[in-house]
Amino acid sequence: MAVTQSAKPLGPIPPGFETVDGELAIGGRRASELAAGGTPCFVYSRAMIAARLADLRAAMPARLHIHYAIKANSFAPLLAIMAELADGLDIASGGELEMVRATGADLAKVSFAGPGKTDAELAAAIAAGVTLNLESEGEASRALAIADRLGITPRLAIRVNPDFDLRGSGMKMGGGARPFGVDAERVAPLARELIEAGCEWRGLHIFAGSQALDAEAVIAAQAATLDLAERLAREIGAPLPALNLGGGFGIPYFAGDTPLDIARVGGALAARCADLPEPLAEAELAIELGRYLVGEAGVYLTRIVDRKESRGETFLVTDGGLHHQLAASGNFGTVVRRNYPLAIATRFEAAPEEVANVVGCLCTPLDRFAERAALPRAEVGDLVAVFCAGAYGASASPSAFLGHGPAAEMLV
Ligand SMILES: Cc1ncc(COP(=O)(O)O)c(C=O)c1O
Repeated sequence: MAVTQSAKPLGPIPPGFETVDGELAIGGRRASELAAGGTPCFVYSRAMIAARLADLRAAMPARLHIHYAIKANSFAPLLAIMAELADGLDIASGGELEMVRATGADLAKVSFAGPGKTDAELAAAIAAGVTLNLESEGEASRALAIADRLGITPRLAIRVNPDFDLRGSGMKMGGGARPFGVDAERVAPLARELIEAGCEWRGLHIFAGSQALDAEAVIAAQAATLDLAERLAREIGAPLPALNLGGGFGIPYFAGDTPLDIARVGGALAARCADLPEPLAEAELAIELGRYLVGEAGVYLTRIVDRKESRGETFLVTDGGLHHQLAASGNFGTVVRRNYPLAIATRFEAAPEEVANVVGCLCTPLDRFAERAALPRAEVGDLVAVFCAGAYGASASPSAFLGHGPAAEMLV
């Protein structure tokens, strides 16, 4: 079909969405109904999040704890579900600690990773009984001093900067010189110092990267993580009470991306868990995931406010933009801009008829949701759905830019 020949492909629409009366529907409700209260808005599906977690649990060894990294999406009602469904929550700031506290979650199941923790953040986390994943020797000594001042035994783990990274990951967080974690070769003396200081020793946190779709790469990173943890535990001279293996499970955003084979990852991990060396045998094992748990369960709905032609190209101008969906515009962690999965939500079943650009309302050429996409003909008033909006949409976009303000969010 000529219309698709000159088009750039769109990313794959995640499975699990329905069509009602020709429209995209989420949780049984049509896009036009969901958007009736105003656009742009984020819609997150409770059922899809629950199913994702259940499928993941079924694929992973039973002893593996699954933590949710709330940076991916901290919308309060969604966080409340994750506090129930996940075995732990990972936070990255004092602000996120307050969000978690507001859900009433058990703070003993919360861990705090991230460079640049201030004294106030350390004090709040220690007082709350949160496990600190220490990022440096300096942070460790501040944490000990603060705990001493508060008269509280701190729960401390060390975040390790491993000597490897997660192959094929969109964002590498380990290996080489990094602001994250303590270099592996310096971990053992620090751990001994913490144990001697009388902290509650919570073991190691090793996060090698993010957004990996290749099961073999994840399996290799997990194997290297277990090997490193064993070596470090032997150097420390004490078994590990807990080991956070990081995460990095990715989701398909772009044409050609295929879903991560979690059955393969889980099978390989189960085989390793069946035969763990003595220093890891009793360790509480966890992974911490953000986007994999919630990313595909979210849709960003934005309305077309203008349809215009410019020098032979069609532009569908929406009331949304990169101020809510920075990643979909290609400006968050990607080198080459490619199209996210996107559809005309109000003509979800219609065949492509034209090639159009879908842009946001910001006055910058960066504000683009789809470049030369094959779409049904859409008019002013139609709704555009940007998929994979459940993670790093509202929580990672500059909503103050140009004064448009944040988008509404809802859980259905
Ligand atoms: C320490 C840590 N944990 C978890 C995550 C979540 O990653 P993702 O959403 O890709 O699973 C990140 C992401 O940067 C991270 O830095």
